[in-house]
Amino acid sequence: MPIRRLSFALLLLAPILQAQAAKPTLHEALMAARADRAGEPGVAAAFQRLADAHGTPLYVYDQAHIRGQVAALRSAFAPRFPKLRILYALKANTNPAVIGLLKAEGLGAEVVSRGEIETALRVGYTGPEIMFTSSSKGPEEIRRSIELGTMLNVDSLDELDQIQAEARRQKKLAHISFRINPGVDPHTIHQINTGIAESKFGLHLQGGIAFRAYERALAMPEVRVEGAHCHIGSQITETEGYLLTARKMMGLVKDLKEKLGLRLDFLDLGGGLGIPYQDGQIVMSPEDLARALEPVWKEGVAAAGYEPALWLEPGRFFVGGAGFLVVRVNTVKETPLKTFVNVDAGFNTLMRPAMYQAYHRVRVLGRTKDPLKVDIAGDVCETGDILAEGRLLPRAQAGDLLVILDAGAYGFSMSSEYNARPLPAELMVDGDAARVIRRRGSLPDLFRSAGPAPAPGR
Ligand code: LLP
Repeated sequence: MPIRRLSFALLLLAPILQAQAAKPTLHEALMAARADRAGEPGVAAAFQRLADAHGTPLYVYDQAHIRGQVAALRSAFAPRFPKLRILYALKANTNPAVIGLLKAEGLGAEVVSRGEIETALRVGYTGPEIMFTSSSKGPEEIRRSIELGTMLNVDSLDELDQIQAEARRQKKLAHISFRINPGVDPHTIHQINTGIAESKFGLHLQGGIAFRAYERALAMPEVRVEGAHCHIGSQITETEGYLLTARKMMGLVKDLKEKLGLRLDFLDLGGGLGIPYQDGQIVMSPEDLARALEPVWKEGVAAAGYEPALWLEPGRFFVGGAGFLVVRVNTVKETPLKTFVNVDAGFNTLMRPAMYQAYHRVRVLGRTKDPLKVDIAGDVCETGDILAEGRLLPRAQAGDLLVILDAGAYGFSMSSEYNARPLPAELMVDGDAARVIRRRGSLPDLFRSAGPAPAPGR
C-alpha cells in the first residue's frame, strides 16, 4: 500500500483506536487509578459503571494483583528455602472468594478464631491445613481444633494444660507449636508491634520461658510438638527485625535439639511484610527479605544440624494493594479553617485511618483541575472520623466518586455496622469482569439477630 494511502487509513482509524484506548478494562482502570490517572475520562467511566451497578461504598479487589503478590513471594523464597510453606493470614481479608483464590494458589490458612476456622473449612481447607494462632483461645475453640486436627499455636502454659486435658478427653493427639515472643522491635506502628517484650503475645524467649514450655509439652503423651512460631508485627518495611528474630529463633531451634533432642518440623517467621501506602514509597521487597534471610537461615541450620521447613504467613502483602474502596461525595463544605469533602463511608467502612492514623492514598475520579487542600471526612458522627487529612486533590463536587487505595487488607474485615449503616458490598475484578463476592448489607440485616420489634408502648 502506498505510504499516502496508509496514512489516510490510519487517520480514519485514529478516533476508533483512541476510543478503545480510552475505554480501559476494569483491571486497567484500577491500575490507572493507582498510577494517579484517575482523572482520565475512561478510568472514571469504568468506576462509574461499577458504582452504578453496585452502589457505594464499594470494595473492589483485583484478582491479578493478588496472584502477582503470591508469585512475587514464592519466586523470592522458594529457590532459597526448599522446604517453604506459605500460609495466608485470613484476618486481613476474610472474604471466602479471596481465601479461595489464595487456596487455589497453594497457600495454607492461618486463623485467629472459631469463625475463621469455619470460614477456612467452608472454602475447602481441611483441619491439618489450618494453623490456629490466638493469645486467648476459648474451650470451644480448643475442642474444635483438636477434633479437626488443626495446628494449635500455643500462647501460654495455661493454654497448654487445657489442650492436654481436652486431647485426653477426646482421646486424640493434639498437634501444637508454640508462639514465641522473641523480644524484637521491628519499628512499625505501636498498635501492631507484636514481638516486643511488653506485648501480650507468645511465650518469651527471655528467661528461658519458651524453652521450659517445650520441655513441659514433651512430657505430655497427648501432645505432639511440631514447630515454633513468631510474628513480630505488621506493615514491616525493613529487613532488620526479621533477621534479628530469625537469629534468635534459630538459637531456640538449636537449643531444643541439643538439650531436649527435639527436631521441629517447621519454624514459622510470621507475616508482617509491608506494602507501600504512599506514592513513591520504597519498602522491603520479598526479594530483599529472602536474600537477607538466606545466610542467617543457613548459619542457623548448620548450627542446629538439621533444616526445619520455613513457614511464612502474610496477610496484608497478598491483599492490601489489591483493594480499592470506592466512595461517593455527599457534600463539600468550606469552614473557616478547612474544606471537608464529606463522603458516604467512614471508620465503620475503613477503620485504619482513625485507629492507626494510617495513610491511604485518595484519588478523585474524572477531575484533574483546581487542586484544593481538603480533609476527606466520613459519615460517622465522630470528630475522629477522617479518612484522609490535608490532601491536595482536584476539586470534587457532590456526586463525584473517590477511590481510596490499598484498602484490601484490614478494610472490610475490620468494618462494622456502627451508626446503623449496612456493610458495603465486595467485588472481585478479573480483567473486565466484576463478580459480586459479598452482597451489600441491607437495612433488615441491621435487625437480623435482635428478635422481633418490641410492641409499641413497651
Ligand atoms: N500472623 C499473625 C499471628 C498475626 O497476628 C498477623 C496479623 C499476621 C500473621 C498477618 O500480618 P500481616 O502480614 O497482614 O501484616 N489491623 C492492622 C494489622 C493487624 C495485624 C494483626 N496481626 C492494620 O490494619 O494495620
